[in-house]
Amino acid sequence: MLKNDLLEQWDRESFFHPSTHLAEFARGNVAQRIITGGTNCHIEDRDGNRLLDAFAGLYCVNVGYGRQDIAEAIAAQAKELAYYHSYAGHGTEASITLAKMIMERAPAHMSKVYFGMSGSDANETNIKLVWYYNNILGRPEKKKIISRWRGYHGSGLMTGSLTGLHLFHNKFDLPLSQVIHTEAPYYFRRPDLAMTEADFVAHCVSELEQMIEDEGADTIAAFIGEPVLGTGGIVPPPEGYWEAIQKVLEKHDILLIADEVVTGFGRLGSMFGSDHYGLKPDLITIAKGLTSAYAPLSGSIVSEKMWKVLEQGTDENGAIGHGWTYSAHPIGAAAGVANLRLIDELNLVQNAGEVGTYLNKIMAEAVGAHAHVGEVRGTGMLCAVEFVKDRDSRTFFDASEKVGPQLAAALLDQGVIARAMPQGDILGFAPPFCLTHAEADEVADKTAIAVKTVLG
Ligand SMILES: Cc1ncc(COP(=O)(O)O)c(C=O)c1O
Repeated sequence: MLKNDLLEQWDRESFFHPSTHLAEFARGNVAQRIITGGTNCHIEDRDGNRLLDAFAGLYCVNVGYGRQDIAEAIAAQAKELAYYHSYAGHGTEASITLAKMIMERAPAHMSKVYFGMSGSDANETNIKLVWYYNNILGRPEKKKIISRWRGYHGSGLMTGSLTGLHLFHNKFDLPLSQVIHTEAPYYFRRPDLAMTEADFVAHCVSELEQMIEDEGADTIAAFIGEPVLGTGGIVPPPEGYWEAIQKVLEKHDILLIADEVVTGFGRLGSMFGSDHYGLKPDLITIAKGLTSAYAPLSGSIVSEKMWKVLEQGTDENGAIGHGWTYSAHPIGAAAGVANLRLIDELNLVQNAGEVGTYLNKIMAEAVGAHAHVGEVRGTGMLCAVEFVKDRDSRTFFDASEKVGPQLAAALLDQGVIARAMPQGDILGFAPPFCLTHAEADEVADKTAIAVKTVLG
């Protein structure tokens, strides 16, 4: 392919990149990387570098790059029918088939799926459905949403509010007043080092109960959480956390939204994180792994309990006033159908569980004893290494030292992509499910070299 020598210049002149230091980028101080191709766990850039993508894009290319089955399904759909809307009972073979496939995989008490384009808009839909639900039930005051600090649920107005990371609030006038944040289930960062895991779960529960008491249960509509905290640090919940939290929610008639944008469709080695941790959510958010990001598509899976009330609502008020032009876009739906088939055919959920467990084990062996490694944690095909200045006192580095970004850069120098998570010095790994044992070894070995290079 001919190389356009102006591409770098056009990029700096014209392209507003998300989650980027805009001024430094414009000044030329943020590296540009133009990606041209990919196969399985590797991507290539146009300078000829081949990189092992141990974060699967943004933990979304779950089946790996270059899957021709999905590309062909997209092309065939585009040729046959690129678009028709799904309002007022319209659909396509792809969108209806995908809905059926999702419901076959979702927990048994779920009923229907509403399609969107992104994890953010799916969570936006979820909050609207929760509000609608309580209005139909005659509880107009029951509207606040509890989210967790360090939760990530998107970057819209409402979803950016749900997100419990300061970067997504600062200078944007967020969070909106309907959203309140409670303790993150992050044992490594427990407020008191003397706490056992059980003490810490009790602490999370009592913080939640106190919040409900202070605000009034009749003002709180829903609790949203990722089964495993993702962008907030890749943190599996402490033992017993979800069971204890769900008891509190049930007691106060508070709906549960399981945000499975990262965990849905296999990343934990089970189809849904809700199955993995015994959650019984009222709504499940899906996106990334639904199409492995071959096309944008998301969904809100609605429980039978909520669905009945939504039906009642439309009997009383007419058609539901919620829809996106691109809801159930046929090209996204075709990608979803091909993607879910491929996951089954290649047994990728099982592989995510097996190779992910192996990755976590060898990562702990490779770097766990280093003086600046506070914790190696993970589950399924999710792994994180958290760095500290001092292990015994659990003192963190100052953010200005940029230890996490330096480590990610040192890994990139060796051809491996990991993600410096946005809050804390945490290297995150979330490879495609087709990662091999040899690739897992490479990721762990090169992480050890990066750690030695940056921290000695
Ligand atoms: C758990 C979770 N929810 C929601 C989102 C938002 O999805 P999107 O970026 O597609 O809007 C993300 C994105 O990383 C996520 O990790």
